[in-house]
Formats: sequence, C-alpha cells, structure tokens
Amino acid sequence: MRPIDFRSDTVTKPTPAMRRAMAEADVGDDIYGEDPTARRLEERIAEKLGLQAALFVPSGTQANQIAIGLHCRLGDEILADANSHIFHYESGGVSGLWGVQPGGLPGERGLLTPEQVTAAVRTDFISPRSRLLSLENTHNRGGGKVWPLERFRAVVEAGRKAGLAIHLDGARLFNAAAATGTPASAWASLTDTTAVCFSKGLGAPVGSAIVGSKEHIAEARRLRKRLGGAMRQVGIIAAGALHALEHHVERLAEDHVHARRLAAGLAEMPGVKVDASQVETNMVFADFPLPVQEMQAKLAAHGVLCGSSGMGPRSVRLVTHLDVSSSDIEEALVRIRRAVSG
Ligand SMILES: Cc1ncc(COP(=O)(O)O)c(C=O)c1O
Repeated sequence: MRPIDFRSDTVTKPTPAMRRAMAEADVGDDIYGEDPTARRLEERIAEKLGLQAALFVPSGTQANQIAIGLHCRLGDEILADANSHIFHYESGGVSGLWGVQPGGLPGERGLLTPEQVTAAVRTDFISPRSRLLSLENTHNRGGGKVWPLERFRAVVEAGRKAGLAIHLDGARLFNAAAATGTPASAWASLTDTTAVCFSKGLGAPVGSAIVGSKEHIAEARRLRKRLGGAMRQVGIIAAGALHALEHHVERLAEDHVHARRLAAGLAEMPGVKVDASQVETNMVFADFPLPVQEMQAKLAAHGVLCGSSGMGPRSVRLVTHLDVSSSDIEEALVRIRRAVSG
C-alpha cells in the first residue's frame, strides 16, 4: 500500500520536468556572482514580490535568520506572534545566533492587532529595544491562516509608527495569494524584508529567498556567507525553484480544494473534531480520539502519514500538496475512517 503523506508540503519529489530543468541548468560559481540561473531566479522573485532585490538561500530558516541579523543588534527584541515559526522551529536562532530577545504576542491564529503592536513596543532604557516586527503569512501554527491584507497593512503601519523594521515570514505566501486572488506583492511590498520558500507548496526540492531593498540584500549576502549558506554551482537547485515559480504557483488552489474536501470528510467521522470553516489554504488541523503520537502510528498503519499541529495533545496536522491528488484524498478518507473506527 502506497502511503498517502500529509505530514507536510515539504515532502514532495521534483516532477520529471523540474528534474530536466535542473539537469540542464546553466551554472557558474555563485560566490563569484557567476551563476546565471540563480541570478534569474533572484530577479524573478524580487519582481514578483514588488521589492528591489533577492538572495537565494538554502532554507526558509536561513532566510528568516538573515532577516533578524539584518534588522537587529545584540539585546534587541523581536515582536511576533508567540506561535510564530521563528520562535518555535528555528532551533533557538533568534537568541543563539543574534542575541535577540523574543517578544511573543498572543495572536489570533497568528494574526495580531495594531493596538497589540503599539502597546508592546518598549521605549525606556531599562527594557530591551523593540526593533523588529515579524509577521507570518500563511501562519503555520495558525493552521494555514491567511493575513487579510487590510489587517496586515494596519499592523505594519503600527509597527512603522513605532520605529520597527518589518519582516514577513512568507514561507507559504503564494498560498495566501492563491487563496485570496491578491498578488503576493501586495503583502511583501509593505515589508522591509520578506522570506519565501520554493520547497513547500511550490514543490522544489531545495531553496528559499530573502527579498528586500538593494542595501538589505547586499548585507544579506554577507550574512549568508557567515552562516555557511553561500554555495557554488547553485543553479542546479535554483533551476528547480525557478521551475516551481513558473509552473506551480497557479496550481496551489488545487491543494486548497483538496484540504477543504479532506476537512469536510473528516468532519463526518465520529470522534474527529475539525472546524472546516477554518481551512483557508493547504492545512487541516483535526482533533482525533487518541493522543497525537498514538494516532499518527494508527493512521500510519492504515497508510496515512500525518503530523502534529503542535497546538494540542490530540491535534493532528494534515497538509495537502503537489503529490496528493483528488483521488488520494478520497482514498485517504476511506483509510482514516477505517483507522478511527478500528
Ligand atoms: C512558516 C514557516 N517559516 C519558515 C519555515 C522554514 O523553512 P525551512 O524548513 O526551509 O527551513 C517553515 C518550514 O516549515 C515554515 O512553515
């Protein structure tokens, strides 16, 4: 039985066309600035996000960490939703790499309010200096929640008024764009730096970008080198990312249809609790009758792989992606029903 893998949208394999593009990529030594494919990708993503320049980096974590290094100094504070990826899943980089203090705010599925930001900013010399506001769209621990553009704009304005730099962790920004019909640039162009991933819903095997002003990206190049993220004939993997950007953005909407169908099917199962109205993009959070690890093992035995949302002892995360078809969704529902009732 072929397992149906909902653990993450990072588990996809490159398509044959993507592999061909990678095999045939024009390459050069990128540390000498001579890789034409990486250059093309950087120009393309900067243009798509409405910012001046971009830098290809190995991971979303590195893109976020470079942004923190760009904007903050030792002892500064980052304000972000307490459930943000940078606080939970980047191995302590905020403090470990940059000596920066996390200022976690209680968001609503990852969304903050302008008032919260204004109230959180510290101005006295006894406190850390609030320096950076980091927002996440879509929000991972928020269940793939999209930031409504006007709310995003108001929160950014509150941050700017208080003198904060603005970073967007847009690992899944193109999912937000697909879900709303709003171009990704509408959010990104309001920020100082935006991180995007090619290796999530877009289906590339490796790579992310940090995007911002020419000055920020010139300095980001130095920080990438310091972190060991500068690579040589990087065009091989940049070609996968470029292919993803050219061919896999529009199709993200299919993943969202699949996630809604999955949620609707789960909602009909006895003992499974899911609020299908909260499914906006490619993630489904569902409470199952058993603790997460036991449930994962049970589902795996029935050929369905899933993750933990991190948001509760029974909260399972299922993520749809390029390698899950609509017939896989129907088959997964049959298997899950069996697992739940068995
Ligand atoms: C919201 C968010 N930001 C950043 C990242 C980090 O990406 P990477 O795994 O490429 O380091 C992830 C990964 O899942 C993520 O979900």
